[in-house]
Amino acid sequence: MRISVIGCGYLGAVHAACMAKLGHDVVGIDVDDRKIQELAAARAPFYEPGLEDLLKEVQATGRLTFTTDLSAAEGSAVHFVCVGTPQKKGENGADLTYVDAATAGLLPYLAPGDVVVGKSTVPVGTASRLARRVQAQQPTAHLVWNPEFLREGHAVADTLHPDRLVYGVSDGSEDNAAVAVLDEVYTATLSSGTPRLVTDHPTAELVKTAANSFLATKISFINAMAEVCEAAGADVTQLADAIGMDDRIGRKFLNAGIGFGGGCLPKDIRAFMARAGELGADQALTFLREVDAINMRRRTRVVELARDLCDGSLLGKRVTVLGAAFKPESDDVRDSPALSIAAQLQLQGAVVTVTDPKALTNAARRFPELHYESDTSTAIEKADALLLLTEWQEYRDLDPYSLVDVVSFPRVLDGRNVLDAAKWRAAGWNYRGLGRP
Ligand code: UDX
Repeated sequence: MRISVIGCGYLGAVHAACMAKLGHDVVGIDVDDRKIQELAAARAPFYEPGLEDLLKEVQATGRLTFTTDLSAAEGSAVHFVCVGTPQKKGENGADLTYVDAATAGLLPYLAPGDVVVGKSTVPVGTASRLARRVQAQQPTAHLVWNPEFLREGHAVADTLHPDRLVYGVSDGSEDNAAVAVLDEVYTATLSSGTPRLVTDHPTAELVKTAANSFLATKISFINAMAEVCEAAGADVTQLADAIGMDDRIGRKFLNAGIGFGGGCLPKDIRAFMARAGELGADQALTFLREVDAINMRRRTRVVELARDLCDGSLLGKRVTVLGAAFKPESDDVRDSPALSIAAQLQLQGAVVTVTDPKALTNAARRFPELHYESDTSTAIEKADALLLLTEWQEYRDLDPYSLVDVVSFPRVLDGRNVLDAAKWRAAGWNYRGLGRP
């Protein structure tokens, strides 16, 4: 099939490459000329494992092209809208400027029977509003909401082998003509056994926001338990292992630490609260304010713990922050708890050095006032304290015995509870985890 993908960021670039991998003829479109030039040269404009190899593989087949010209969407039967929905400046709601602009820009190029497929995370009600615009332009065209659940760092695998496909169609019916079109797009995915659910627009939109809210709640739940564990002298890691053995609870997303960040969970729960307020259902989501508050409290808590670890004062202390990305296997620093902690430490007088295997360029753009060092050994040298804030494998693998003589003071704060506390202590380190004795 001929497919256009509008928006080539973390979501769209991966989606375009994966659609070509599934055998379709794909054009990726973005307003950012630099991004398009990179993608056209089969280079990933951001770090995502497997993406560059996939780009090379599919571009060699001639099935994937990139352009800044939206008219290239003409002739495609299916148009995926994959643009961002960031948080509005100074407000909780989602900024729909890009979704609205992409849809409006696409309208002149729609042919009868075309299917516009929204993948961006949007406030409930957006799909039906956009469907009316599409149909006013092209009465036989369809708009489907097909939320994307990919995780950064696993984006290629998650797109090719999703847990489920959700199609939100205007009448919520299996017989909707758009369902057959999307089934054709996802033939390979469906034939490998991926379940698919057909529903209406608002339910499809809510599936995504509800899923992200649940994940955020799970993380904040365990971080709240970490606060209680700290007060009671208990160990939140063992607590998570034990409650996670109950199938109904599950161990995933129960890692206590410095909390969640990134371009999705924080802004999605806020946009969800804002939208519920508009709908008169704000009481239903007041708990998400607490989820957000617990999460933000983690950052302050880590700064306090770092001060404790440094004998009560951060002034002039050389603190090395291991990790800047919001999670490992990504160079994304949007709302990264690690970077926000690094900035707070510096504001409180610490001499901070931040290192990360992939995210330093993005980090320096966002926080130019911080000091960055790409070489881990150099970053660690003569530190008064190490703070592990993003659990990249290379930091998990650090050898406490060989590092003990490299630093000025062997103090480590494990912001992700991933180090072997007993081993680090045995090597002479003052080890602190979060929610652990
Ligand atoms: C999330 C959803 O998982 C994904 O389904 C959706 O499509 C987009 O938002 P992503 O933002 O890529 O994906 O990251 P995710 O793996 O969910 O992690 C989010 C944050 O939570 C990270 O900062 C991570 O470090 C943190 N986290 C995750 C924890 O603190 N503890 C955990 O147990 C799990």
